[in-house]
Amino acid sequence: MSKRNIQPTDREIVMREDDFIVSKTDLKGRITYGNRIFIEFSGFDERELIGVQHNVVRHPDMPRGVFKLLWGHIQDSKEIFAYVKNMCADGSYYWVLANVTPSVDPSGNVLGYYSVRRKPNPHAIPIVTQLYRDMLAEERRAGARDAIDASQRVLQQFLNDKGQSYEELVLSLQSL
Ligand SMILES: Cc1cc2nc3c(=O)[nH]c(=O)nc-3n(C[C@H](O)[C@H](O)[C@H](O)COP(=O)(O)O)c2cc1C
Repeated sequence: MSKRNIQPTDREIVMREDDFIVSKTDLKGRITYGNRIFIEFSGFDERELIGVQHNVVRHPDMPRGVFKLLWGHIQDSKEIFAYVKNMCADGSYYWVLANVTPSVDPSGNVLGYYSVRRKPNPHAIPIVTQLYRDMLAEERRAGARDAIDASQRVLQQFLNDKGQSYEELVLSLQSL
């Protein structure tokens, strides 16, 4: 099934307290592994997920600026925590708090990437929704070429106002 044909709906699937959604990718972000809960939430069959780009679960409400931040961290061998809204095969959505890290071999070579997602604090979601909406609006206004810079300026302004880094923001929202 092509994700391009999926119409997003307002139906939310909420993670359970002790769910962990795990996936691994190669260096290009192609899925190499997904645990049972990842497959369950995605709504795809395992064979539709393995070998395809992780954007198969991307939700159109997600700003590109967030993924730019994510890739910037992991390609710099740093982990990142990020709130992400994902889309299921039937157009439903689910929010996660994702931790994404590089997978390294014993010599320190990066083999791919690894993500563990857990249930986000429900009180954080309205704040993140508004922030991502503002970022996305700015991306659309700026046009494709300048979208990422424009949305990162919105994020940076939000963080400056709070005097926080993105990581500090995520962790503080998690304990609201
Ligand atoms: C380990 C790992 C996990 C990822 N998990 C997700 C995810 O759950 N949802 C998502 O939309 N993108 C995820 N991404 C980012 C995607 O690779 C991609 O950058 C993003 O979906 C935007 O895709 P696009 O720019 O092609 O639209 C993940 C990347 C890596 C390396």
